[in-house]
Amino acid sequence: MPRRISLPAFLHAIRNLRIACVIPVTFAAVAAFVATIPASAASATVASAPTESTAGRERLRLDEGWRFSLGHPSDTKKDFDHATGYFSYLAKTGFGDGPASVKFDDSAWRRVDLPHDWAVEMPFSANASHSHGYRAIGPRFPDTNVGWYRRKITVPAADLGRRISLVFDGVFRDSQVWINGFYLGREPSGYLGFRYDVTDYLNYGGENTIAVRADATMEEGWFYEGAGIYRHVWLEKTDALHLTADGTAITTSLRADGSAEIGVTAEITNAGTDARAGEIVYRVLDRNGHVLAEKTSALPALAAGATAESATMLTIAKPELWSVESPALHTLAVELRAAGTGIDRTETRFGIRTIRFDPDAGFFLNGKRVELKGTNNHQDHAGVGAAIPDALQDYRIAKLKEMGSNAYRCSHNPPTPELLDACDRLGMLVIDETRLMGSNAFHLDAVARMIRRDRNHPSVILWSLGNEEWAIEGNIIGARIATTMQAFAKRLDPTRLTTVAISGGWGGISTVIDVAGVNYIKQGDPDKQHAEFPKQIILGTEETTTQATRGIYFDDKEHGHLAPLEDGTSGGNIETGWKYYAARPYLAGVCYWTGFDYRGEPNPLAWPAASSQFGILDTCGFPKDSFYYLKAWWTDEPVLHIFPHWNWPGRDGQTIQVRCFSNHEAVELFLNGRSLGKKDMPRNGHLAWDVVYEPGVLEARGYRNNEIVETRRVETTGAPASLVLSADRSTLTADNRDVSVITVSALDGEGRAVPTADNPVQFTITGDGKIIGVGNGDPGSHEPDKASERRLFNGLAQVIVQTTHDAGPIVLRATAPGLREASITLTSAVPPPSGAAR
Ligand code: GAL
Repeated sequence: MPRRISLPAFLHAIRNLRIACVIPVTFAAVAAFVATIPASAASATVASAPTESTAGRERLRLDEGWRFSLGHPSDTKKDFDHATGYFSYLAKTGFGDGPASVKFDDSAWRRVDLPHDWAVEMPFSANASHSHGYRAIGPRFPDTNVGWYRRKITVPAADLGRRISLVFDGVFRDSQVWINGFYLGREPSGYLGFRYDVTDYLNYGGENTIAVRADATMEEGWFYEGAGIYRHVWLEKTDALHLTADGTAITTSLRADGSAEIGVTAEITNAGTDARAGEIVYRVLDRNGHVLAEKTSALPALAAGATAESATMLTIAKPELWSVESPALHTLAVELRAAGTGIDRTETRFGIRTIRFDPDAGFFLNGKRVELKGTNNHQDHAGVGAAIPDALQDYRIAKLKEMGSNAYRCSHNPPTPELLDACDRLGMLVIDETRLMGSNAFHLDAVARMIRRDRNHPSVILWSLGNEEWAIEGNIIGARIATTMQAFAKRLDPTRLTTVAISGGWGGISTVIDVAGVNYIKQGDPDKQHAEFPKQIILGTEETTTQATRGIYFDDKEHGHLAPLEDGTSGGNIETGWKYYAARPYLAGVCYWTGFDYRGEPNPLAWPAASSQFGILDTCGFPKDSFYYLKAWWTDEPVLHIFPHWNWPGRDGQTIQVRCFSNHEAVELFLNGRSLGKKDMPRNGHLAWDVVYEPGVLEARGYRNNEIVETRRVETTGAPASLVLSADRSTLTADNRDVSVITVSALDGEGRAVPTADNPVQFTITGDGKIIGVGNGDPGSHEPDKASERRLFNGLAQVIVQTTHDAGPIVLRATAPGLREASITLTSAVPPPSGAAR
């Protein structure tokens, strides 16, 4: 029986439905809601909602209710006798055996929800891969390399006749998938999305079993990559005649009169057995669902098995533009109609904006020069590894924006779609990357899948086709491959340029690529390149940060802790890099290596250090000092940051250099009330004072026009006395997916944050939430991520709390021996109070 709901609740549900299904709206679900309210009310209030009760498109999230177990790459007993039958699944169709068989009993397996990363659950081992963060997985740990997932789905009898696909956004890696024992295929990539049409294999009106085997033995990158189904999985249902997956392309351009032209091409596939004709209705909607423009095109009879392309142009008189500061989004709704009935409909978010690169003046967004102030990032966060909940993507992008960053390079693989959604919503420019260069089908297919999936995101401004390909970057083979890949990318997307990140091999790829990517000015000479190739655009694809462990000012390699490096492993530091780029307007900007620390590559250290030290923020997103350097020069907000902290027992009488990052005109430093001198702040620079240590108060006063405009103090604190919890968001959605990121810190008896606190903290959670991971940003820590305890590291720790399906309060309590405990209450509500997309 359909649940009867009130009109306001219905409207809220529709709105959320549209937000939750980022691309396609659930036609049948809308129809089901519509059926419960008077038709007049529905059509009067939701102009774009379909009123026909048709078997349209449905996109169901398959995140929940999976069973998981480790298997084995070669020991068939440990792999549940998989692939041991007289006939294998490759010999006889439907012969999936072991867990691939319907009959397999997985009741003893663990229950998991997606996204899931089993690598982050593994202990640390000194024998494991340095580049992957010393987790006990990889070639030397066969027992932990294979993961099996199984899940049952019910497909209604009424679905017979529809096309049904299983859609995976990404599985690490080398995945094989079966449904009801039928082998569907293999996907080697751990990063590309893939889909299988399961229409013919289904048990309609009954239960169906999905089995996935992932083998993470081989590494694809040289950094932590996770393992398992670490992105979303969907079940997509359409009519046999439908809008092709990833087949809609939107372009936007502005005319002199200020109006915008929206160019659309849509692919339509006829997967049925008879030719069918129809029509396509294109509508551009604003953020409130109001129709701004509408066009209809005829679809002439499309032969069975054929795909056709339909193109149109829509005009919007006064468009609201997408920009970094104001990322206005529109929706393109494409409706496919046949015999007078709506049979399919997709909704695609897009932004109206123009982009342009100029070899002498850099990058332009909507006609205005925008310096790319970027970072590189891998998909990895404290507590969760590669399995990043959607809300955590927002948290991470917001942190980068807070320091004034406007660009994000997806090093070194196409990201989770929700990362791009976050960049679209929050206003972050993206360099989307598929890294392995080559000009055969394997490599070009990866380029095509990235471009077709991601081309409608307004945030994406550039396709990156490679990174530091040492065997080819400086020679003719590299030049040829880059030429082929670049031409191929242009055919798929004529609106964007391509880049390759080059690390010293100049003279090959760099002679042909649209945008020469400089990986470190120590390894290339942009001025020389600009002089030799004056028509080429140049961008800093990687540049050194000040490598450091957060809150560490003296090396402690035994614990994996690194004091700030003045000359990093790739040369230079945060300041030398920015000064270089800021002084050269012909350069489009720079992407630092990296925004966030990530697991693996703890260079220049090694075990026990397990995480990288390149980040401007640590693995939790806690800022290091460099964050304030960039914030000072990348934003207009006043910044006055002095460091280090002033808790140095045992160092009385020793000289400690105190530094200041600020964008004030001058700064004066005081120790215990005595002035240590007032200094003018050099543009894009910093200030430093050599200070003989004595406990007390360091105070910085920032001046503008000889007036003190800001004062900051760093004090010697007492021992930790109490804990404090704070949440990035305290009102959440009760959808079993939303998360709140909780910061744990310690105060002394006078309420001052203790920057050196390292107390072990225990967490308990009550109410409608769960802890999905903990972290503290310590690259040398071997504490588990999946735990309800964590030591503070230099005063901070993080707990990631996720909602359940039940609305209600969530109470997180933190205790530590000898410290006053803390607790925080979050509210998990249905529906989302802010309408924020999750
Ligand atoms: C670069 C490389 C990055 C990372 C970095 C570490 O050469 O492109 O992926 O490995 O070095 O220094």
